[in-house]
This record gives sequence, C-alpha cells and structure tokens, in this order.
Amino acid sequence: MVATVVIGMQWGDEGKGKIIDLLAETADVVVRYQGGHNAGHTIVVDGEKFALQLIPSGVLHASVTPVIGNGVVIDPGVLIAEIDQLQARGIDCDRLVVSPAAHIIFPYHVALDELRENVRGDNRIGTTKRGIGPAYADKASRVGVRMEDLLNPDEFRQKVAAALEEKNTLFRSHYNHEGFEPEAICEEYLCNYAPRLVPHIANVAEIIHDALESDKDVMFEGAQATFLDIDHGTYPFVTSSNPTASGAGVGSGVGPLHFSRIVGVAKAYSTRVGSGHFPTELPEGPISDHLVDVGNEYGTNTKRRRRIGWFDAVMARHAVRLNSLTEVAITKLDVLSGVGDLQVCTHYEVRGRESYSTITTSLPATQTEIVAAKPVYEKLPGWETLPTNARTRRDLPTEASYYLEVLEDQLGVPITLVGTGPQRDQVLFS
Ligand code: GDP
Ligand code: IMO
Ligand code: MG
Repeated sequence: MVATVVIGMQWGDEGKGKIIDLLAETADVVVRYQGGHNAGHTIVVDGEKFALQLIPSGVLHASVTPVIGNGVVIDPGVLIAEIDQLQARGIDCDRLVVSPAAHIIFPYHVALDELRENVRGDNRIGTTKRGIGPAYADKASRVGVRMEDLLNPDEFRQKVAAALEEKNTLFRSHYNHEGFEPEAICEEYLCNYAPRLVPHIANVAEIIHDALESDKDVMFEGAQATFLDIDHGTYPFVTSSNPTASGAGVGSGVGPLHFSRIVGVAKAYSTRVGSGHFPTELPEGPISDHLVDVGNEYGTNTKRRRRIGWFDAVMARHAVRLNSLTEVAITKLDVLSGVGDLQVCTHYEVRGRESYSTITTSLPATQTEIVAAKPVYEKLPGWETLPTNARTRRDLPTEASYYLEVLEDQLGVPITLVGTGPQRDQVLFS
C-alpha cells in the first residue's frame, strides 16, 4: 500500500496544488487533512486555471475520491460555491466525501478574526480573515460545531446558541460590535447548507483504511506549510493547525506507520504572505520585483503581494527533519531565469549564549534567535532561460543543474521533481 503525504516546506504557496495534481494521476483517494479556505491551490490544465480552496486538488482526476478529513475547518457556503464552480466546469463533485468530525466556520468566527486583527494593529498576523483561527480555537475549547451536527437540527441550534452566548458578550462589551442572532445563522445553515452537504458526510476513516487495505494509492494533501505550523512554525505568525506531515494522521484518522512517501514542496526561492520573520527576505527592489512579476507572486485568495527572499536551506533542512521527507519537489525554477547571480542561505550567524557570533547550520530553537539570525549565503551563477523541451535535469543549462545539485546537497534528500512553469506538464523528473 502507498500512502503519500505532500506538504509545503516554506510559508505556503509553494505549488503544492500542482504537484498533488501531478502525483494524483495514479491515486485512488486524495485527502485534505487540515486548514480551511485560507488555502489556495492553483492548477493549470491545458491553459485552464483551477484555484481550489477546500476540495483536494486530486478532484481534477475523475478516478480519484476526494476526501475532506476531520482536521479541516469548513465554511459551508464556500464549500458549496466551490462544488458548484467545479460542477459547472464539468468536474463531478458527487464523489466528494466529508468527515462528520470536521468543524464548521460561522460568521462569528470571521468577524472575530477581523476584529482581532484590527486590534493588533502593527502586530497583526496578516491572517486571511476567513475565521480559521477562531474556528480552531472553538474546537480546542470544545464549543465547536461539527459537520455531524447538521444531521441533528435541534442539537445544532443548541450548540450555536451556546457558542454565541459567551461570544455575543465579547462582541458587545469588548469590540463594540452588535453580535449575532443564533436563529438567523441556524436558518441559513440548516435550510440552505445542510441539504447540499449532508449527502457528502461519510465515514472518512473507514474509506481511507479500506483503500489502504485494498492496496490502493492514497494521498494526503497538506495546506499551508511547515513554517506556518502552529507548533513548529514562526509563532505567533502561523496558522492554527498542523500542516506538517504528522498532521496527516491526526487530521484523517490514520496511524504513522502507513506513510511511506513524504514529498516536501519548496519554491526555488522563498515567499511569504502576511507578517512574521523571514531571515532571507529581500528588500523591495529589482530582484524581488522581477520574481513577483515573473512568478506572479500575489496571493491566490487575498491578492496580497507576496514577500520575496532567497532559498533558505537552514529552514528547508529543518523541514526535511520535521516532516521525515523522503523526497523534495522544487517548483518555479523557471522564475529564477534572467535574475543574474543567485544566493542560497546555507548557514545562520546567531548570537551565542556567551554573546559572540556563532555559525549554525540548524534552525535555532527560539523565535528570538531566529529573528536575530543573519543568513550566510553561497553565491551561485544564474542562467538566462530554460529550454522549453527540457524533460530531465540533464536537459538544463549547467548553472540551473548546478543550482539544483547545491540544493540537493544542502537538503540531504533527493529532488525528484522540478517545476518549470505553471502548466501540469511543465515539470522535470530526475
Ligand atoms: P499552493 O498553495 O502551494 O498550491 O501554491 P499556489 O497555487 O498558491 O501558488 C503557486 C503558484 O505558482 C500558482 O500560481 C501556480 O500556478 C504556480 N506554479 C506552480 N508551479 C510552478 C512552476 O514550476 N513555475 C511557475 N512559473 N509557476 C508555477
Ligand atoms: P496555501 O495552502 C500562504 C498565512 C496568512 C497569515 C497566516 C495566518 O495556499 O499554501 P490564517 O488565515 O491561516 O489564520 O492566517 O498564515 N496563510 C497562508 N499563506 N499560503 C496559504 O495556504 C496560507 N494560509 C494561511 O497569510 O500569514
Ligand atoms: Mg496557495
């Protein structure tokens, strides 16, 4: 049996959607295990662009069963709109299955996300304002409402009213916001959303285990990325779930022994949307402008310009360890064409305990040390263009091939896929 996990190694938007779509050609089941519609996974097939938020990227292959696991938080209106958009483009979504244990996002989560960001002012996280953090907070506080509650209207009403009791006090007394009427929300969710989504609710863990036991090919699609992980990321500038590979087990109901192939996806450079530390960040200038323009580095969902930096091998090596990566896919190599000399961060200079400078090849353990770390770079020669007919790394210009060799050497695991453009077939195999 093959259980493959695909995760982001940086701060998201590495091109996971494209890599998952590519690998899902032979998959039977593709499972989203965390996050919500803060994700935006773009896939381009025959020039046609699909931007998926909640439905796993494997949906574009007719033979795949797309699964939304218990670890995901679902805004039902968004999920229904996504189903409708895909159906209108000829992609069958009847096969979509959703875990009864996935938590539901409500308008009060979205409002709280926005109000909290406004209060933080300059210290804001730069969230997607989709209600993701507040929905996970309710889950941990055990006042969340789950997809299974849509099956039982009385219980649903009680739970929403209970969740709002405390929140309405908070809205009115702390945020000067009028709060929410539970009846109006329940009406919308039970009358408009439940009839559409209840048919998709199924025993997800059983479906996945039956597939694994029948030697089927099961893939787990990470959203966000390693350094947005609530435990292992650049806290507090993180999301509220565990995008790292171990999250695949918790977020779907599968034990760790099943995962045999764990693919990390990283861009050939770095980007980040929202606030937070970013050791190799480049100031705005000709190089970052070039990478933003050529790489179209604007958020899929929020359209924000992504911050740009050089490839950070210190962080990437840490991602290899945290996720037990068996291989790496490097995307957007084409975007580095024409930039001139390139830099790869191989070490950090950090303030040691006895206050002198130390060189480290490992990611420091505290956020304070990471903020203070100075990246140490290796300069590498650039290249002008990549040949359009390249099929393997051997077809690349020497400098591009050397760049990949240096990354591979830094990471200590093989680079098996290299992205050379947004299209499904713009990829090199090792
Ligand atoms: P995800 O969130 O990790 O799935 O990534 P996004 O879809 O948010 O962002 C990645 C962007 O890069 C999308 O616009 C993709 O179409 C695009 N992309 C993916 N791989 C490549 C590549 O190898 N080269 C280029 N030029 N674009 C790519
Ligand atoms: P994909 O799956 C990039 C970032 C937000 C913000 C932080 C917290 O497309 O890679 P949240 O709304 O989750 O509470 O925001 O995380 N963020 C992402 N950045 N790609 C994503 O998803 C992201 N999902 C969340 O910008 O900094
Ligand atoms: Mg994205």
